[in-house]
Amino acid sequence: MTASVHDIHYLRNPIDKLGRPLHDLRISVMDRCNFRCPYCMPKEQFHENYRFLKSQERLSFEEIVRLARLFVQVGVRKIRLTGGEPLLRANLADLVGDLTSISAIEDIALTTNGVLLANHAVELRANGLKRVTVSLDTLDPDIFLTMNGGHGAVKQVLEGIEAAIAAGLSPVKINAVVERGINDHTILDLIEHFRGSPVIVRFIEFMDVGNRNAWKPALVVPSRELVERISARWPMHALTQNYRGEVAERWRLDDGSAEVGFISSVSQPFCGACSRARLSSEGRFYTCLFATQGLDLRAALRSGASDEQLLGLIGGNWSARGDRYSELREELRRSEPEQKKIEMYYIGG
Ligand code: GTP
Ligand code: 5AD
Ligand code: SF4
Ligand code: SF4
Repeated sequence: MTASVHDIHYLRNPIDKLGRPLHDLRISVMDRCNFRCPYCMPKEQFHENYRFLKSQERLSFEEIVRLARLFVQVGVRKIRLTGGEPLLRANLADLVGDLTSISAIEDIALTTNGVLLANHAVELRANGLKRVTVSLDTLDPDIFLTMNGGHGAVKQVLEGIEAAIAAGLSPVKINAVVERGINDHTILDLIEHFRGSPVIVRFIEFMDVGNRNAWKPALVVPSRELVERISARWPMHALTQNYRGEVAERWRLDDGSAEVGFISSVSQPFCGACSRARLSSEGRFYTCLFATQGLDLRAALRSGASDEQLLGLIGGNWSARGDRYSELREELRRSEPEQKKIEMYYIGG
């Protein structure tokens, strides 16, 4: 297949079926993780003999960079590296360095569980990483272990966060998944701890990503309930979005000591402005976090596809996109309960 000049021009800024452009690319570089958070990789299922990808099945850095350059040609300006745990990928900072050399990319960020961050923060920053988001659901050591399947320690994550700040990664954000009856009584402690520091704490509603995390609506704490609980302790006010399509709703404590964010995919879906594409570590391209199918770009890459052919695939896939899972959640869960969705560990959130 060879795209004409006209096609290529058209594909430069493809718009999906709901009028949404492609702006963000979330690249999973590693399907393995050193945690086993039950809401993502329950350890009963992701056991010692679980078959993760073999290293040659994962895209090489060269392949990732080639695809990133092509995604830039169809509109991507922001890249987030995810996992599994991205810091388990050897020499990740080299990839960051390669991606930084793509001048049109305005923002490169990383999502990590933080345990290995202290070892890598300086090198990542030196190679051009701008900022980092660290997953930390609670400061309570026991609940921390319950929520990550019994690995690592809060102290290591806090050291990672300190190292990131010291290395000049900014802003540092925290992602805390909130589950009713598990950690929702500890959210004020997280804010108290980071108040007065540059760290932005964001609370994520527990989502029904994949099919393995035993999600139940009763476990979701709607963000508006958290806003009420936090406001009762620290009055706060809503802020405007940093950019169109921002996932988190931002609030600031009235005393100016902290910014807090809420990611409310269940109670207030934000599909309307969703401009995010996802690339799995084996090179499948997904247009939704809850997708059931991805486009195999690795097969195209490894069978010698030209840039024009790859651009045709990427742009064509985006143009055909009509995803809005979170807006249709209840309906889809009822009508298609057996739908096999991609798993969080595989696509990185
Ligand atoms: P910023 O670039 O700092 O605004 O962060 P971000 O919100 O784009 O990225 P981050 O990875 O920190 O997102 C936080 C979490 O929000 C993710 O880990 C997911 O759990 C959730 N999330 C992000 N994007 C989407 C999305 O497109 N749909 C849904 N349903 N959830 C999302
Ligand atoms: N619901 C909400 N957030 C989740 N994350 C992982 N699984 C879920 C889920 N089921 C979060 C992680 C991390 C980010 C990648 O997504 O805690 O912060
Ligand atoms: Fe690992 Fe993140 Fe999944 Fe937890 S949520 S198991 S840290 S990839
Ligand atoms: Fe985008 Fe799908 Fe999330 Fe909606 S559910 S915001 S379409 S990734």
